[in-house]
Amino acid sequence: MAASQHTSSTSGKAKKRIEELRKQIDHHNYLYYALDAPEIPDAEYDRLLRELQDLEQQYPELVTPDSPTQRVGAAPLKTFSEVRHELPMLSLNNAFSDEEVYDFDRRVRERLGVENVEYHAEPKLDGLAISLLYERGRLVRGATRGDGSRGEDVTQNVRTIGAIPLKLHGSGFPALLEVRGEVFMTKEGFQQLNSLQESQGLKPFANPRNAAAGSLRQLDPRITAQRPLTIYCYGTGIVKDGKLPDRHSMIMQKLRNWGLRISPKAKLVKGAEGCLEYYRQMATERNQLPYEIDGVVYKVDKIAWQEQLGQISRAPRWALAHKFPAQEEITRLLDVEWQVGRTGALTPVARLEPVSVGGVTVSNATLHNQDEIERKDIRIGDTVIIRRAGDVIPEVVSVVESRRPTDARRPQLPTHCPVCGSDVVRLPGEKVARCSGGLYCPAQRREAIKHFASRRAMDIEGLGDKLVEQLDEKGLIRDVADLYYLRQEQLETLERMGKKSAQNLLAALEKSKKTTLARFIFALGIRQVGEATARELASYFGSLERIMTASREQLQQVPDIGAVVAESIYIFFREKHNREVVDKLIAAGIHWPTTTNRNSGPLPLAGKTFVLTGTLESMSRNEAKEKLQALGAKVTGSVSKKTGYVVAGAEPGSKYERALQLGVPILDEPSFLELIG
Ligand code: IVH
Repeated sequence: MAASQHTSSTSGKAKKRIEELRKQIDHHNYLYYALDAPEIPDAEYDRLLRELQDLEQQYPELVTPDSPTQRVGAAPLKTFSEVRHELPMLSLNNAFSDEEVYDFDRRVRERLGVENVEYHAEPKLDGLAISLLYERGRLVRGATRGDGSRGEDVTQNVRTIGAIPLKLHGSGFPALLEVRGEVFMTKEGFQQLNSLQESQGLKPFANPRNAAAGSLRQLDPRITAQRPLTIYCYGTGIVKDGKLPDRHSMIMQKLRNWGLRISPKAKLVKGAEGCLEYYRQMATERNQLPYEIDGVVYKVDKIAWQEQLGQISRAPRWALAHKFPAQEEITRLLDVEWQVGRTGALTPVARLEPVSVGGVTVSNATLHNQDEIERKDIRIGDTVIIRRAGDVIPEVVSVVESRRPTDARRPQLPTHCPVCGSDVVRLPGEKVARCSGGLYCPAQRREAIKHFASRRAMDIEGLGDKLVEQLDEKGLIRDVADLYYLRQEQLETLERMGKKSAQNLLAALEKSKKTTLARFIFALGIRQVGEATARELASYFGSLERIMTASREQLQQVPDIGAVVAESIYIFFREKHNREVVDKLIAAGIHWPTTTNRNSGPLPLAGKTFVLTGTLESMSRNEAKEKLQALGAKVTGSVSKKTGYVVAGAEPGSKYERALQLGVPILDEPSFLELIG
């Protein structure tokens, strides 16, 4: 008797803790995926999940299907079963020119008999369409589009995607809600997956789209679970027992508040002109996006108008896909040259017969490294397929072997640096070969200076590649610190450098002295230390001195820094020359604000700007403002592109409209309360 009482009270305690953990994990999932504002490091999240897993293992009777631990576990299927879409999953009509967009807008206005139409403009993601069915907020089915009327039941696979909530967040959702969106892979996830495939002797995927499709249509959900899939939702299907807002843009905000991921790039625009402006903007941003898009989509924002417009055959009259021009082309490989980078790495660069790829003339492309050349069996003289996509630098994808001329020859890795003549070495286990010349090699020195001056580093405006080369050639700079000791009369001796531009450069140098610790660390060009690592270092240690003097072990305490990166940082600061350069830079007047929170890490909302609108039920606007500020956020009075979030209470004003136009995420009161904890 006593024993059983004891057990039931322990399990009562466990039940409480399990519920608490699930609530916390759901909260962090919401912050991480839907709001893109994580509040705790990954390691802490993993700890919560592990604790929950352990408890559930101890008390299997307490496991529920929507527990965050229940993402994987289903047995492999023999085949997928069929799903009938109650409302068909439509496709989109395509446009490739401005004229077609004007025509679309004109047809829409004529049919509706109105003068002006607002469109919700969204990136067109290159993945595959998915339907997610939520019953009373619980994910009960995931299905592919198939032919639009019938798709495949991929529920078990969809459940493994962390970005898809198993349970909707908050309240107020319809009893039955079908959400539609695109499952895709980021460029980085795709590259990691392909390296893994190759290291296991498996065939790499041709592009992120194929990789996403292949991963979602796996009969074994354990395989899907290992694939870096994510989602952006872009619409709804069937809705029962509940109402959604009467505008598409507002429905999207609702979905976000319910924990679904919505593209932060979506925007409300006016008329054909607004659409085209958005298209051009996205075309320029495209290469910097972490995922691939193949165009943009315009949707009439008012749902009543969408209904009035209806559809013809399988595509709605109220939406249009405006595609980017094709991004692959065929050309001839004329030669292969070897470029020396900042770290001495030799990169083979393909010199090509110039060809226009998606409107840009391409005459150079990267071949990545010697192994890639061999794997793809690329030879000088070959006809090659080039792609201008993911990266800013176009790449050679493959060879058209049937067109290989008889005199095609294999590119050779040079034994000596083509710039300084030092030996080229390739360490065992490394993919790249490097020039061993260090800063003696002009190429390495110049690249280090270019990196230092670049926008995301010290942001020295006007110090372009050509200028760096001239300064180095004339012997005016030997290291990055010399930049800050340049004098007007020295600069004026340079080609194409008048009095005015010399003054401008000196002013830009002066301006760059005011920076942040993270930027400064990044600018130093320590191997393996990218922007994210630099930020981690800065917020963890809080001062340069502490980073420079940290031991290997201390460095490894920083989130995401492992033994290799720690070693690289440690060695960098033990090198006398590097410490001298750092001292010289500080002596030149480079400075940054010192942080107060040294060990506790940055405040959770640091760097984020909020705007409040409408009436909140739970607190006054002033209280809300103070709460946000206490978490490090900035609260301002007007909405701009830089606004992080708009918090909308009851009867929001024009700021709400403006947020929709600019694509700024809007939080309702419950989501706001959750964010501030
Ligand atoms: S809306 C009726 N929005 O493009 C609306 N589709 O060519 C149908 N896609 O099957 C879809 N991004 O897989 C919509 N922002 C977006 C999209 C998008 C990608 C895909 C989707 C669809 C295909 C149609």
